[in-house]
Amino acid sequence: MYEDVISKAFEAMKNAYAPYSKYHVGACVKSKDGKYFLGANIENSSFGATSCAERNAIFNCYSHGYRKDDIEAIAIVSDGKRIGTPCGICRQVLAELIPMDLPIVLSNGVETLVTNMNELLPMAFNSEDLV
Ligand code: THU
Repeated sequence: MYEDVISKAFEAMKNAYAPYSKYHVGACVKSKDGKYFLGANIENSSFGATSCAERNAIFNCYSHGYRKDDIEAIAIVSDGKRIGTPCGICRQVLAELIPMDLPIVLSNGVETLVTNMNELLPMAFNSEDLV
């Protein structure tokens, strides 16, 4: 299960631009109609301008007109020694743009873990707080 979305995320990881951290991340959002939207981490010498792989992938998906209910799964992979989990900024972004119970597949090629936003960001601040 999830082999396709994991392998596409590793493909995306090949395009990571990470000359500073040398930590490579790839992500793939799979839509229910079978499309794959890829992203890799793209760093900057002004470190705060770096953009993470999973944000690039979900923004790519949304930029093609897809929305949270169109998404089947997301995979986020890295070449780290242990499984990488989304950073705090990515958790906030993903909590808004994917369903809270969507399978999030994490892998470093050695271990794989399936989680979701309910686990990664409980009690999330979201649009319902603004009404
Ligand atoms: N990175 C990601 O792409 N996703 C995460 O959720 C964790 C961090 C990237 C950002 C930076 O290019 C490198 O990993 C080290 O922080």
